[in-house]
Order: sequence, then C-alpha cells, then structure tokens
Amino acid sequence: MLPAAEAAFTRVVAAAEIKERVAELGAAISDDYRDSEPILVAVLVGALPFLADLARQLTIATKIDFLSISRFGEGGRIRIILDVADNLLGKDVVVVEDIVDTGLSLTVLRRMLLDRGANSVATVALLDKTKRRLVDVPLEYRGFEVGDEYLIGYGLDFEGNFRNLPALWAVLDADFASRDPAGSARYLYQHR
Ligand code: IMP
Repeated sequence: MLPAAEAAFTRVVAAAEIKERVAELGAAISDDYRDSEPILVAVLVGALPFLADLARQLTIATKIDFLSISRFGEGGRIRIILDVADNLLGKDVVVVEDIVDTGLSLTVLRRMLLDRGANSVATVALLDKTKRRLVDVPLEYRGFEVGDEYLIGYGLDFEGNFRNLPALWAVLDADFASRDPAGSARYLYQHR
C-alpha cells in the first residue's frame, strides 16, 4: 500500500518519546525558575504544540505570550509579524522554539528581548539541528538533537501542512510531499 508515501517519510521521534522528554524539560525548568515567575514566549506557529504540552508540565507560576517573526534576506534579519503583549522589563523570559537550525532567528530574537529590558532570556527548543548551526547561540534546554533532514510534525510544517501530526517525521522525498499532499496525509495520518 502507498509505496511512494512509505518511501517518502520516516518516523524520527514517536509521540510517546516526545511526551516523556517534554515532561523532563518541564521538570528542569520548574526547578530552575522556582524563585521566579517566568514568561514563556512561544514563537508561532511551529512552537504551538510544544508550548501547550510544556506549559502543562510546569509547576510554577508562569505567564504565556507569543510572537511571530519572518526571516528575510541574508544574515538572519527578521521582521516581527506579531509582537508580545506583555511588558518584558525586568522579566525572566523563556523563549519556546520548535527547532533551532542555523541559529540566526534565535540570535536576533534574544537580542531583541534583552533590548526590551528582560532580566534574563533563556531558550527551550524541542529540537536542535546542531550540524547546521551558522552562529553560536545559547540554548539552555533542548529536547532532542537531530540530524539535518527536513522534519515535519509536532508543530513543524512542510508547505504549511502536517503541523498537527503527533510524532516527528523526516521528509525523504520532498518532491512526493509537494506533488501529492493528499496522498502524503493519507499515509502519515494512518501511521500516527
Ligand atoms: P534558524 O533561524 O535557521 O535557526 O531557523 C529556525 C526555524 O526554521 C524554525 O523555527 C523553523 O520554523 C524552521 N525550520 C528549521 N528546520 C526545519 C525543519 O526541519 N522543518 C520545519 N521547519 C524547520
């Protein structure tokens, strides 16, 4: 059945494994911030499932805010599409990211949050593509180190699709995924 789809995707991290790791990250953050009331700033849209699960593992007072950015040009220039609602002055900010790849977005984001007077900025990313890093950026908490394959699921998209897959998959055949999103979906959602 669906041989092309089967060859186009491979599961990288199962949903149960993600759940376990998110609980560990939540425990570590709760411990480190037990004397503080951090603001989680989630980077839309990819960090949404991670934020929802991580926030519910925290056992400390926590605020939640969002921002959305788009990268343009070379060198990691970013445009803010949706800004945080909270005043960050004197606050301990924990940036919630889906994945750190080149590190360019996070570098600019960290600088921007510190410029707004945050007392501290740390980052929790579910995934870390260390091999693709172009700039050295602090990453205080990470779920999994991954290779340089293109990943989908648990917030990550391919051409806007598949963010709602509960597991993480690598796209082995991008042409197939692009040509046949419906066939891809049939396979992926059957093998959740
Ligand atoms: P960076 O500035 O290169 O670190 O970009 C990080 C952003 O690139 C992430 O927040 C994702 O939106 C996107 N990204 C990087 N790798 C992947 C991937 O494998 N799948 C989906 N999106 C990715």
